[in-house]
Amino acid sequence: MKRQRVLFSILVTVCSLFILYAIIKNYLVDPDASGFLSHKTGLKRELSLPVWLNVLYVHVAFACLTMATGLLNFSNRIFRQSRRFHRINGYVYLVSVFLVVLTSGYLAPYSTGGKISSIGFNALNLIWPFLTVMAVIWIRKKQIDRHRNWMIRSYAFCFTNLSIHLLASLFQYGLGFDYAVSYTIGIYGSIILLLAIPEVLIRSLFPVGKTIHP
Ligand code: HEM
Repeated sequence: MKRQRVLFSILVTVCSLFILYAIIKNYLVDPDASGFLSHKTGLKRELSLPVWLNVLYVHVAFACLTMATGLLNFSNRIFRQSRRFHRINGYVYLVSVFLVVLTSGYLAPYSTGGKISSIGFNALNLIWPFLTVMAVIWIRKKQIDRHRNWMIRSYAFCFTNLSIHLLASLFQYGLGFDYAVSYTIGIYGSIILLLAIPEVLIRSLFPVGKTIHP
């Protein structure tokens, strides 16, 4: 229990900092995404900048909302205080996931690194809703443990952007790869990491036999 509380506090800190960073960077410091766009060379499709930017703003807004709503629903205290809040907040999370994926569907064909990156993003567009819908299906069947586990799997993908940039920086600055290649490696590396880490967490935090009773 203590381990879970420590982990949750770390999660609250990381998420709060990341949401703050994403808002400040994308809406205040670099609203034209000029830094990111400067790496896009040889695009196969013509990019309409105003449309792309507006889609990105919506994308980032709902991405931050998924991170915040998901986090609140992992709080035991909030869950104990109001199941109604947990339910409504959970549906806000679900809708937000679909809006991030929808906007991602528009952004993906223009992604840095070309077709191979675009395929990776489209894989994410399938994986994330699948994991989220599974969590909803299990709670509809009143299977709390399974719901929690699938939510952990789904929530991991709120860290997609953070993970892509961490991995890309590692490959670019640490190993000397070109930016676009590093970004593509970041996408595929994130898919692997964000699928694997929840499995480790689930097994270590909730060993088989330790079940939750409603
Ligand atoms: C939930 C946390 C997320 C945040 C905060 C976020 C934020 C961002 C930001 C700021 C960008 C602009 C470029 C960059 O900094 O990389 C971006 C691009 C993009 N994101 Fe997300 N995103 C998130 C999750 C996702 C997920 C889960 C997907 C896929 C299902 C996705 C798909 C995309 C795509 C396709 C692009 C365009 C990449 C490019 O043009 O190269 N994002 N995102």
